[in-house]
Order: sequence, then C-alpha cells, then structure tokens
Amino acid sequence: MSEPLENVRGPIPGKRSTELLARLRLHESRNVTAIEERFPVVWESALGSVVTDVDGNEFLDLTSAFGVAAIGHSNPYVASAVADQVVRLAHSMGDVHPSEVRIELLERIASIVPAGLSRTYLATSGSEAIEVALKTAMLATGKAGHASFRNSYHGLSFGALEVTGIERFRKPFAGALAGHALFLDYPRAKNAADEDSAPALESARSALQKRDDIGALVVEPIQGRGGVILPPTGFLRGLREICDEFGILLVVDEIWTGFGRTGTMFACEREAVLPDLLCIGKAMGGGLPIAALVGTEAAMNAWPLSEGEALHTSTFLGNPLACAAALATIGEIERNDLVSRAKQLGVTMVSRLGNLHRHKIVQDIRGRGMMWGIELDSAASAHETVVRALSLGLLLLQAGPEGNVISITPSLVMSERQLFHAIDLLDRALAPR
Ligand SMILES: Cc1ncc(COP(=O)(O)O)c(C=O)c1O
Repeated sequence: MSEPLENVRGPIPGKRSTELLARLRLHESRNVTAIEERFPVVWESALGSVVTDVDGNEFLDLTSAFGVAAIGHSNPYVASAVADQVVRLAHSMGDVHPSEVRIELLERIASIVPAGLSRTYLATSGSEAIEVALKTAMLATGKAGHASFRNSYHGLSFGALEVTGIERFRKPFAGALAGHALFLDYPRAKNAADEDSAPALESARSALQKRDDIGALVVEPIQGRGGVILPPTGFLRGLREICDEFGILLVVDEIWTGFGRTGTMFACEREAVLPDLLCIGKAMGGGLPIAALVGTEAAMNAWPLSEGEALHTSTFLGNPLACAAALATIGEIERNDLVSRAKQLGVTMVSRLGNLHRHKIVQDIRGRGMMWGIELDSAASAHETVVRALSLGLLLLQAGPEGNVISITPSLVMSERQLFHAIDLLDRALAPR
C-alpha cells in the first residue's frame, strides 16, 4: 500500500477550524497564535508525514512540526511505549526518587552520543538544556560570560535569551538581560564545497581575545531558525581549537540538528568535533517534551555532588512518559537506520529542490540531509508561499531573522513518493502570483 498524500476537501481553514480559532482568540495569550483569514488550521490527528485537521483535510508535512516528528507523527512504537508506561508510572520525583526508565534512557543516551560525552541532565525543553549548559560552564570555568552568534536561536526563557542572537526576541526584554554575552558573526558557506572558515575564525579569535570573562561558546552546527545557514566546513573544528586555546567550554546546540537530521546522528560528528557540552531536544521525545544536556565527565563534574536538594532541577525532570518515548524514538532511528536514510535523501533533495531555482523569487537553496532552507526575495513572498501551500495541502514553516526563508525539515521516514509530491506542491505554491 502506498503512503497517503494530501487531501484538501474545501476552503482552508474549513468551517470547524474557523469556529475553533474564534474560541482560541478569546482565551489564549494574544502573542501565541497569529490568526489570519487563510491561516492556520486546527490539527486533529497526525500519522507519519500526514496531518489531518478538524475538517478532515489532510496535509503533507514538510516541517515535521519544528523537527520534532523525525520518526513520523504518532509513531506506533512511541505510542505503545507511552501507553504502557502511563498505566505503570506517569511521574516520578525529579531529584529525589528516580524511575527505572530514566536510568535506561541515561544509559541509552550515553551509547549514541559521541564517545567522551557521558553524563546527562534531563531537561523538559531545549531552552532549559541551554540554561543548564550555561550554568555548567560557569561552574567549570568560574567565568560568567558567554559567547554565541548573531542570528542564533537557543530559546526564549531568560537564560537562553542571553545567548539567542535574533534581536527581535531580545529587544523588548533587553533591560532585564544580564548582557554578559558576546555575539560573533556566523559565516555562511558559499556552496557545499566551501571550506574557507578562516576569516570567521580569525574574527571570533580576536573578539574572544579581548574578553577574559567568557566561559561558554554556544553554537548551532547549522543555524536553524536563523534561516538554515550552513557554515563552511571546518568552522566547528576551528571553534573547538579556539575554545581549547582560551579555556572556554564549547557548547554545541543540536536541539534541531540532532538525531540524524543532517545525515549523521549528531552534526558535530561530521567534523569529528567533541563538544564539552551537547544540547539535544526536539526529535528526542518522538513528540513528548524532553531535552537534555550531555557533557564530558570533566565539565559535568563541576556540579557538586548532590547531598539533598539539587542546585538545578525541575518538577518534571526525567518524566517517565517522556523517557519511555525517547527510548522508543532512539530505537526507531536505529532499527530503521534513519541516519543513513537522511543522508541519502539529502543527495536526492539537491536535484529535486534545485528545480525551484527557476522561480524568480528564489534567491538561494541550501541544506544537508533532511534540513533545507529556501531563501526568497522577501518575507512577504515567504509568507504568501506558506499560506498558499496550506491551501494546497502542504505544511511549511517560515524561518530567518527577517522571515524570508522557508525551512524544510521533513520526517526522516517520509516516503520518496510523499517527499517528491510535497516538493511539487511547493513548486506550485512558489509560482508567480
Ligand atoms: C537550535 C535550537 N536551540 C534551542 C531551541 C529552544 O528549544 P525549546 O523551544 O524546546 O525551548 C530551539 C527551538 O527551536 C532550537 O532550534
């Protein structure tokens, strides 16, 4: 049986979505959901790479919902692991009484991360993982400052916002930010073969030389929300060397790039870079909220041994349902060799997406594995494309600090038939307006 494609039954959003969005508007914080005449729809269910809305419309999903549904939406193995777990133990006690499933997950994480990373803090969001990384670096180095990159995205809670480099998110809260961060320029590879990272590394080195208070350098191997920006090959390796030179901990944020998305289990493996601290999340829980900070023994041992109350913890630390889901997710990635699949499909994507260059509004197409960005001439073009795509039965996401990039991060299990058809729909959505 071939996998389903899109099926749009009427105008988007349909009647039921419209009714529900009117109710949402009354009670949700007004900053959350942007409601327009043609956007969004209310989701009812999802399976694999197809999302069904409350009016019965079916959409092909090229976002995997922010990269979370990497093993497909409502993966049956995750569903049964969670169902099994929920009747036995839905919650344990964060830093007091652990659960067996949490111990299994900690062991499993140690088995898939680059060798040398062995100690984990389980978080409930990517932002929390980043914050714990910053705290770890401070404890390990005694230095309170951090460096990161312009247009980076590491989350929006106050600690994470200190290092998030997209100005729009920082500006309204700038008065409350400690402002210890140094923002460096993130280089953009000219093409897939670009290895010239020297100028960017030189400018990072000279900026860091002027500050003696930097304990952590936080970097995404590919800037995701910043517009799917790939640096030249060798950049991450160069940063590793600079961090070693200045006694700074290298924090690699793989919250989006992790779990096979870019064709290796973690993107830092491509350059054989061992971070001091690795942040992971999104795809990790197969749809349940869980993230983690994984570090070297040396870095993580900066935390004092707990003798009662942990210095950093939270109510839902190591939630058993999320742990069971994460174990099933890692199992699915390995069982189906999804890392290799992402790599192979990445090669296919080059030619398939390349055809889109014939649209005048397309300025650049770049990516690796199953993480791609299509840069358009303006945010308005990108928005119109996303809205039109929805009416055609295709889910897309806008990215980039200006919003002029369409990010494509499908599930790693999307069939070729679905993927190619989705790209055909994208082609139609890009057509002259
Ligand atoms: C690279 C990266 N880091 C951190 C975060 C923040 O994660 P969360 O939204 O789970 O707090 C995100 C979210 O998009 C991300 O893409």
